[in-house]
Amino acid sequence: MSRYTIPLMRPWIGAGVKKRVEAVLDSGFLTEGTVTRSFEDAVRSYLGAQRVIAVTSATVGLEVALRALDVGPGDEVIVPDFTYPASAHAVSLVGATPVLVDVHPRLMTIDLFAVEQAITSRTKSVMPVSVFGNPIDYTQLNSLKQRHGFSVVEDAAPALGASFNNVPVGLLADITVFSLHPRKFITTGEGGLIVTANHACADWMMSYKQFGMGISDGRLQSVFERVGSNHKLSDILAAVGLEQMKNVDMLLSKRVDLCEYYNKSLAGVNGVTQSEVTPNGFHSRQSYIVFVEHRDQVMAQLRERGIEVQIGTYALHREPAFKENAGVRHHGEFTGSNWAFEHSLALPLYHELTGPEQDKVVHELKSAIRACAESPAR
Ligand SMILES: Cc1ncc(COP(=O)(O)O)c(C=O)c1O
Repeated sequence: MSRYTIPLMRPWIGAGVKKRVEAVLDSGFLTEGTVTRSFEDAVRSYLGAQRVIAVTSATVGLEVALRALDVGPGDEVIVPDFTYPASAHAVSLVGATPVLVDVHPRLMTIDLFAVEQAITSRTKSVMPVSVFGNPIDYTQLNSLKQRHGFSVVEDAAPALGASFNNVPVGLLADITVFSLHPRKFITTGEGGLIVTANHACADWMMSYKQFGMGISDGRLQSVFERVGSNHKLSDILAAVGLEQMKNVDMLLSKRVDLCEYYNKSLAGVNGVTQSEVTPNGFHSRQSYIVFVEHRDQVMAQLRERGIEVQIGTYALHREPAFKENAGVRHHGEFTGSNWAFEHSLALPLYHELTGPEQDKVVHELKSAIRACAESPAR
């Protein structure tokens, strides 16, 4: 039971999930099998994608995607500084060097000017992050890509349902990875999805995540063609995801409505700066982010009042794992990332959140901002 009267997130499970999970349990087949294939198919047809591969997390998905593109020691991958650490972890895990660059402060997505400045002869990939569900401007990114010839692995962990110029996130990068962690609106508890139109890469990834077994016509062969690992998503978890995918449009539109209500209620409020959406983008609203002064103090006060709020995400250059060293390169200043890190606040956002609860969040937020402006912590 949450100690908060209004939690940050409460996953929507839906009536059919228990039945579906029970059916898997009754079947006696619990590892990855036909239910996981059906879940992948459901996501594939939702996106209009060529190939979808389920794995145990987005972090694993990013690592497998980089391996599939042969990114490894000696290579650099450009990553935004303002992101969940998993983006850069995946780069380090394959032995490549994450190159951290700044983000736009209010869009919070990677600064494409900084990307261009950071490119060297070692740059093999760029990993933009559609942070909180805000899509990347692919018009600009693709023009850089054409000029410099890198591959794009998008960390779209929070961005299922987002699009740019009406093209779904998932169809824009060479390889895209989504998360199924419970703060995402489609969740399997833990899990990830890799999406690509590159069939050779998809076959390689399917093989790698299943002990390196051979693949022929999309089917596993009992021969071990390469060294691989085990990142299979169990049918038990896929059953949860499959049921949720039946409701994907309804779940997404509810989140968009909730965010519209926050947008209206917070417009022009003293002390609140609203985040921005990428022009020509559709934001899938994994989180609702505002920027406030004295963020930590405001956050503490809201929590004391029973409202669970959270920082936006991390500025990686400030974390011990990503200080500049032989395995991590920092490029330029991190003005946008530092500002977003210090000011961003995620407000409660989940399917069952009611209008009166949103009103209470807004009321308490305004009152905490006023209190903190009058007596800021020293
Ligand atoms: C931007 C980003 N990348 C990667 C991850 C990691 O996803 P997972 O927990 O599925 O490994 C997250 C998780 O929240 C995320 O927000």
